[in-house]
Amino acid sequence: MAYEVTEHPLTGVEARPGQSHYAIFDHGAHAWAWQPDGQRPVLWLSAHSRFASGQAVRGGVPVIFPWFGTGPAGDRQPAHGFGRLQAWNRRHVADTTDTDGRLVVELELDPTMTGEQPDFPFSYSAGLQATFTPQYLQVALEVRNTDTTDVTFEAALHTYLAVSDVRQVSLHGLDGVHYLDRTATATALPVVQRGPVTITAETDRIYQEHPAVTLHDPGWTRSLTISDEGAANLVVWNPWVAKAAAMADFGDDEWTGMICVESANVLDHAITLEPGESHRLSQRVTLG
Ligand code: BG6
Repeated sequence: MAYEVTEHPLTGVEARPGQSHYAIFDHGAHAWAWQPDGQRPVLWLSAHSRFASGQAVRGGVPVIFPWFGTGPAGDRQPAHGFGRLQAWNRRHVADTTDTDGRLVVELELDPTMTGEQPDFPFSYSAGLQATFTPQYLQVALEVRNTDTTDVTFEAALHTYLAVSDVRQVSLHGLDGVHYLDRTATATALPVVQRGPVTITAETDRIYQEHPAVTLHDPGWTRSLTISDEGAANLVVWNPWVAKAAAMADFGDDEWTGMICVESANVLDHAITLEPGESHRLSQRVTLG
């Protein structure tokens, strides 16, 4: 049976069917635990994360909306938009953990907040559905334009995956895919991925059209497949030594235990919705 989150000063839903662990905060509609039976946690969560209203949780699946970073023109704050900093209202919980190990939680960005952001003064709705199962975690963000004008936004499901040692893992499926290297200068041209992605330095890349990818972790003899729909981009991020040390909510040595694989629509792939249109961005992380 699912129950209310009590371990952190944020509200949410949590379940522990068998030896599994599922959890999501209402704050930011932020899934923060998916640990299937007999597995180590799949979602990484920093021991230094803040758990407070108005702050971003460091780990889990932050919902990045309605802009990525500082936005396409580089002039927006807060970083990665306001979606991960705000209250979302829980709309529905379908708890069948006792029979099939599934938990589905649906939330909606508080509609009283929409239209009030100076950088995003539109009328819209944003809903998040998180599906926890013994085999996979799926997170889906659906945005609908309820305005009378076009609405353009960026979004990402900024999934932090736990790994044995990021220097030993490899991400397969991106051979031949173009990417933008965000650690290089702003004018850098897209380069082409050759072979699997390995992490040997600070890594911050925006890949273009991509298939499903598989993360091989020999240290934990585990493979994770990350597939998505409605995502033109895949972002791969690890801060490495210096950037980890510079972040207050990230332990200096924690960078070895995580990699972000983010399903996204950013920069040239920002989504424009005409009045009445909607867009669904979803990501599924599957064992094996
Ligand atoms: C990634 C970006 O998605 O998120 C990185 O590509 C950024 O540039 C990282 O550093 C973390 O961002 P934040 O705002 O959560 O510290």
